[in-house]
Amino acid sequence: MVDVILGLQWGDEGKGKIVDYFAPGYQVIARFQGGPNAGHTLYVNGTKIVLHQIPSGVFHESTVNLIGNGVVLDAVTLKKESQKVAEHGIDVRKNLFIAERTHLILPTHRALDKASELAKGNEKIGSTLKGIGPAYMDKTGRNGLRVGDLLDKNFTTQYIKLRMKHQRLLDSMNFQEDITAWEEEFFEAVEFMRELKVVNGEYFVNDKLSKGAKVLAEGAQGSMLDVDFGTFPFVTSSSTISAGVCSGLGIAPQKIRDVLGVSKAYCTRVGSGPFPTELENETGEELRKLGSEFGATTGRPRRCGWIDLVALRFACMINGVTKIVMTKADVLDSFEQLQVCEQYKVNGQLTAEVPYQMLKSKIEPIYTALPGWKTDITAVKSYADAPAKMKEYIDHISKYLGVEISYVSNGPGRDQIISA
Ligand code: GDP
Ligand code: IMO
Ligand code: MG
Repeated sequence: MVDVILGLQWGDEGKGKIVDYFAPGYQVIARFQGGPNAGHTLYVNGTKIVLHQIPSGVFHESTVNLIGNGVVLDAVTLKKESQKVAEHGIDVRKNLFIAERTHLILPTHRALDKASELAKGNEKIGSTLKGIGPAYMDKTGRNGLRVGDLLDKNFTTQYIKLRMKHQRLLDSMNFQEDITAWEEEFFEAVEFMRELKVVNGEYFVNDKLSKGAKVLAEGAQGSMLDVDFGTFPFVTSSSTISAGVCSGLGIAPQKIRDVLGVSKAYCTRVGSGPFPTELENETGEELRKLGSEFGATTGRPRRCGWIDLVALRFACMINGVTKIVMTKADVLDSFEQLQVCEQYKVNGQLTAEVPYQMLKSKIEPIYTALPGWKTDITAVKSYADAPAKMKEYIDHISKYLGVEISYVSNGPGRDQIISA
């Protein structure tokens, strides 16, 4: 049986913490899409750790971790991250498995990402510059190199061939930077990767399932960044939704049981693109300050705003969310009044649906005001002890979405989560 944890907004909902919390109940934790554009924060023995490439179950001895075929893998990031987790006594050579069909992010992909952003000028996506888009383009364009190719003695020749293609593109975009240092690092990391367990991911995970193992699929990014359903073209290049679990791991849809959707109690976005409830004022500043809203991967300040229930209901629909985990509720502790967006006014028309093109239409969020709870909830352990007004907020949202909010996270710590 497979359960899924994924983000329902524009990423950074707190998926890492939630996966780490639930991991002990599973035997396999598997990433199914995305790459080092992800930054998943966990606290291990009080120390903050940000994972980009390794699944967030890595700190639990009882689980094995799988990087699935739907992921794009940066060998350099993986090597650095492996060294970081080794400082905490974790040897990824023992508990990390990598699907051989996983596509590699090459140094030239990073260069192409940068060149493409530069070429876009004011219309740039605000990508993480990790080479995600170009790597997925080479996958769907049927050019890319995969982890399984590392075992081929002709790997370097294959790389050089592809590099020449990329160089022509880079030249056409007038990209001048020297990437030899990146390439040196890459080939060193390739050597490191040869020590790791490369498996046929689809047999690996299905064998485990047939033996009764519980698998937790860990999403990266969020539904509003999905390549099909997000705010295109300001999206990432993978399927971030629950459907991506099947193609990103090689499992059948009927194996999926729960889809746990993670949403902040408010909303953030990093990078460019539409964000109807964005607050470019003091309240937005307050949310950023109280929520420490700075990117875990790039350090950029996150744009902040009220919770957007129109987008959230859309995300619940396309994912088949069975339970919601609401994170960062504590960030709202001091607010007198809270707003929840329940409709959009698009070109003068009210709607509760996400429009095809969020970019070109003028979207005005229509809010319902709810009272704040004005109580510090960070030490609350049981739902019974939570402030009544917080429960009102949760109930209101849950009713609108038609999905139960089953957990409320009230701080970044491993133990700061309340079962509702
Ligand atoms: P992810 O990408 O979805 O894993 O989320 P990030 O790690 O990028 O961002 C979430 C941030 O919020 C991290 O700094 C977490 O430590 C922090 N966090 C997670 N849950 C909570 C919570 O309930 N309250 C507070 N205050 N911080 C939280
Ligand atoms: P986690 O897993 C927040 C955003 C980038 C940019 C857009 C495209 O930590 O939630 P990309 O590098 O993927 O081509 O950038 O997507 N983005 C994220 N925003 N959290 C993430 O991951 C993100 N991964 C990508 O900022 O706007
Ligand atoms: Mg993140």
